[in-house]
This record gives sequence, structure tokens and C-alpha cells, in this order.
Amino acid sequence: MSADLSQLLNLREMEGAAAEVMSPAAFAYYRGGANDEVTLRANRDGYAALRLRPRMLVDVAHIDTSTTVLGVPLAFPVGVAPCAMHGLVHPEAEVATARAAASVGSLMTLSTMSHRTVEEVAGAAPERLWFQLYLYHDREISRALVARAEAAGARALVLTVDAPVLGRREAIIRTPVFTKPGTVLPNIGQRTPGSEHLDDLSYFNTLLDQSLTWSDIAWLREQTSLPIIVKGILTAEDAELAAQHGAHIWISNHGGRQLDTAVTALEALPEIADTVQGRAEVYLDGGISRGTDVIKALALGARAVFVARPALYGLALAGENGVRHTLELLRDEIRLGMALCGKTKISDLGPDLIRW
Ligand code: LAC
Repeated sequence: MSADLSQLLNLREMEGAAAEVMSPAAFAYYRGGANDEVTLRANRDGYAALRLRPRMLVDVAHIDTSTTVLGVPLAFPVGVAPCAMHGLVHPEAEVATARAAASVGSLMTLSTMSHRTVEEVAGAAPERLWFQLYLYHDREISRALVARAEAAGARALVLTVDAPVLGRREAIIRTPVFTKPGTVLPNIGQRTPGSEHLDDLSYFNTLLDQSLTWSDIAWLREQTSLPIIVKGILTAEDAELAAQHGAHIWISNHGGRQLDTAVTALEALPEIADTVQGRAEVYLDGGISRGTDVIKALALGARAVFVARPALYGLALAGENGVRHTLELLRDEIRLGMALCGKTKISDLGPDLIRW
């Protein structure tokens, strides 16, 4: 039985309802942050603490929330962030999430660690798919994945750089999810011999290349003509390096799951936008739960924002319809927020909207 979505009026209510239908282990996996979860909480609280400076007596009869990200048209400036293993909460997994995103003119970023292949998910979200990538010790796995994502029609590669090792998520240690040892995630393919006893997340941890540096971005550049987005940037220094390497920038602290007490994307955004000066597109994720959060991020220089947990909670509650509900709530809140701010189009959103 799917949830009565009409009773769920905002993203926080969706989280509460999802907690009731998800297995305790799956809920712990998705909700959890690292260590004391200081950054996890700050991600959300930071938006509420920032005040808006609305303008009055502006004609807001027509609001246009549309924009583009790397040439992909978005009906409103929100995409789905990569998030592992959607099949833990719904049998249609990433295919349902991708369909929902495409149906409302949003964008799906498919995690490498998905339960459906990149080819299947690309079929569900034609022209509206980005592919998230890690670089592995075995570059051949990464190279083959890049080629598959490109052939399937992904429009950009999102390289996660904040997880040379996985953070310590204590909720997950307490309530482990995990999948049967020896299963195979379809984008990663055959297990290396001797790893059959490991569950998916532990196996994945063994693949990660901890020696990754900026020179590997140059290697990746040679493997593909797709745009590259470096995800996990939190400082102006690294944003500068990303821009110099021809990459776009996704500000993120990995949903508070990696380095606890790291800065939030919202805190990092002003220095990054100031450094990049339009040389690259800048996105962010982490803690978005209201349309006004999106408006604040765009006012400070983000081109679009991404949400993972809220989409996943929608998926758990009602599959494709649930993800669509999450995205539609945000879309409608952005439209309302823009009208109340006296802003009619995305390019109107600037730093004058924010009171420091
Ligand atoms: C996580 C990894 C898999 O946050 O991205 O669990």
C-alpha cells in the first residue's frame, strides 16, 4: 500500500512517514551522518538561519523557474543527487526515481552503486541523466564504466572526490543494512576473487583508490568528451583547482556522511562563487528541505541544487509517484518563494536577497 501523499505537505513530513515504512536498517543507512552528525544537522539548520530580503510591488503574475545545467533544460533548479542502492527501499529502484525526475523536467544523477544498470536508467530518463563515478584502484573498471555511461546517453560525469575512504556512520555500524555477501552491483560487475564474503558496501570500500589526486582528473578528461563535475568541493582553493582542470563544481559534504564538523555547502558557497567567477557551473547539495533553501543557494551563486534523501524517502513511500511528490513540493515552494521575494525568474536571484 502506497502512502497517501496528499497528506504529506513538506519534505520533513515525508521523512517522518518514510521512517515508518522503511526497514530500520535502510532508514539508518540513508538518514545517518558521520560521528556526532554535527555537519548533518548544520546542513539543514544553516538555511533556516539565513534571512531573506523580499522586494514588494513587483509584478509576480508570471514566475519562470526554468534554467539549464550544462545545457540540460530544467523546469526548476533541482536535480536528484547520487545515492546508493535505491532497491533497498523499492523494487523499481533507480528506474522509478529516474522516471519521476524526467516526468517533472528535473534530472537524475545515477550512483555507480545502483541496483539498476546505467543503460536501464538512461532509458527511463532520456536526456536527463548524469552518471556519478568513483575512481577505483583498477582504472579499467572506471574506464569501462565511463564508456558505458557515455554510450547510454549520460550527459555528464560526476566524480565524487570526498570519499577516499568512507566516513564513520555510527548509526550504520549499530544497525547494518547490509546486503547478502557476494552480491553484485550491476554497474561494477564481477567481484574480484576472494571478496565473496563481503557485503556490497564493504566490497565497494575495497575498490576505492585512496591515492587519487588532481592528476587523475586529467586522466579522466582523456577518457571522455562528457563534461566532468567534481563533487565534494568545500573550499575556494579546491574550486580554483577544479576550474583550472576544466571541471565543474559540486559543493558537498556528502550529506554529512564523511568528515563531521566540515563546513556546509551553504557556508562554502560564497567563497567558491567568488573564486570561480562564472568559469565553471557551481551546484550544491546537503540539507535542502524547502523551496526557500533553493532560492538562498541560487541567490549566493549556485546554478542548481540536488537532493538525495528526500527523493529516496519519496521512493520508499510510493515509488515513482513518491519521488515525483518530493520534486513537485520543492518546485511549488520555489515558485511561491520567488513570488513572495518579488523575483520572477532565476536570473533575478542574487546576493541582494540575503541579509547577512
Ligand atoms: C555512502 C556512499 C556509498 O554515502 O556514497 O554511503
